[in-house]
Formats: sequence, C-alpha cells, structure tokens
Amino acid sequence: MKNILNAPFVTEMRNTCANMYRLGWDERNGGNISYMLEENEVAEYLDINSSIREIPLGFDATALIGKIFIVTGTGKYFKNVHDDPETNLGIIRIAEDGKTARLLWGYRDGGRFTSELPAHLMSHIARLSVDPENRVVMHSHPTHTLAMNYVHELDEKKFTHTLWEMCTECIVVFPDGVGVLPWMLCGTNEIGEATAEKMKEFRLVLWGMHGIYGAGKTMDETFGLIETVEKAAQIYMLTAHLPRVNTIKDEEMVRLAEFFGVKYRRDFLNL
Ligand code: 13P
Ligand code: ZN
Repeated sequence: MKNILNAPFVTEMRNTCANMYRLGWDERNGGNISYMLEENEVAEYLDINSSIREIPLGFDATALIGKIFIVTGTGKYFKNVHDDPETNLGIIRIAEDGKTARLLWGYRDGGRFTSELPAHLMSHIARLSVDPENRVVMHSHPTHTLAMNYVHELDEKKFTHTLWEMCTECIVVFPDGVGVLPWMLCGTNEIGEATAEKMKEFRLVLWGMHGIYGAGKTMDETFGLIETVEKAAQIYMLTAHLPRVNTIKDEEMVRLAEFFGVKYRRDFLNL
C-alpha cells in the first residue's frame, strides 16, 4: 500500500483548507469540505473494506451506500489541517445500512466528521441527481459575502442580480445564480434537507447570516465559485454606501452569457 499522506486527494484537502483559512473565510472551526473519492484511487492507499470504527450518520444516506468521502472533522480548525491531516480529516465509507459511516482513516484523536454532514451528503445526493460528475461540497464563512447578508435583501433573484452586477465575469461563472435560505439552525437534518432542495437547482446556496455552500466537479471549480461570489460581495461592500455612477446593464449580461454560451437564469434579470 502507498502512503496515504502522499495521496493527491489528501494534498488537495490540505492545500484548500490552508487557502481558505488564509483568505479569512474559515475562522476557528468554521467551514467544512466533503470530497467524494473513486474506490480504485483510495484502494491504492487503504483497505476500503476495513473499519477503524463505525460512526452513526443520524440520517438516511442509502443513495450513497459504498461511496467514499474525505471529510473535515467537526470542531477542527482549517488552520491546522495542513500540518496534521490525520487528526483533522477523515476518510469514511457509507456502510451497507445507509445509516452508518465506516471510518477508513483519520480522526486520529477519536473525533468525527463535520456536524454539517447532513447538508453535505444530502447535497451530494441532490447534485449527483442533476450532474453525475459532481464530487465536492464546500461550506465556508467568507467575510464580505456574510457582511452583504446584513445590508442586502435575502432574496435569490435580487441577491444574484446584485452579485452579477459587481464583476463582468460573474454571470459566466455562476449563470445558475445563488440559492438563498433564511437563517436556520445549523448542524441539523432540516438545514441539510433545505440545502439539498436548493442544490437541485443551484451550485451555490447561501445560508442567511451564516455562510455559503458550493458544489462542483472538482475542488478548483467549487473553490472558484465561492471565490467569485466573495469577490463580487467585496466590491458590493466597498461601494454600497457610495453613489452608484456606473453599472453593468442587464442587456450587457445577456451579451456575456450568450457570447460564452452559458445557460443562465434569464428570470433573474430585469429585461
Ligand atoms: P464543524 O466544526 O462541525 O465542521 O462546523 C463548522 C461550521 O461551519 C458549522 O456550520
Ligand atoms: Zn458554518
């Protein structure tokens, strides 16, 4: 067996958590990532039929039986993932009952997966139903995105439209827009179900006055989605209190979407 610490997916998790921490998106234990892995890539490093211990999920994940995920640990600081992946990350496989996770590696101090696992796994199920290539779900607390929650209406169409206006490339990067949930109690199956419902339609879901979820085929795609929203929110927060002199017009957004050939939420524009 090869050394798991050299696995590309462990390296990706370490580097992504370090990036997110340095961007100020993930204070303390804020944020979590789950990344679905291929059986054969994991089998080079671990016995995928082994089990260090079993951890109850607390919800039904029958649709993911046998699937393997690398997931950040609950209460673990993104700051520390890079230097101690085995304590701060875990690799789990959904057991045959669909209600238990078998721990294949990690959570070395007796820890467990993120408290947001319901939102993650339910979002994986939802995204896979519309995009079989989806692999990553990422949750974060990006500063400007969060700040914008307090001064902008939490309405899907209005929030997306404002973000699209802030950077020329926004409508190209997230033409499907941003789904919005009101403030809800986090760490519950209820917020997981609500997030997954939005994920059938959006790759980005805002948790009102809490943070954001992104989903994508790769770590780069998912990170890039949240990064682009955060950049747009930063421009908004830098300008919201100033007189608006110029703006990207809706007709210009249509030209962008058509030129780059993306399927966009036309109903989110005011044409
Ligand atoms: P965890 O430490 O359980 O991953 O929770 C962090 C978080 O961001 C809750 O929404
Ligand atoms: Zn959070």
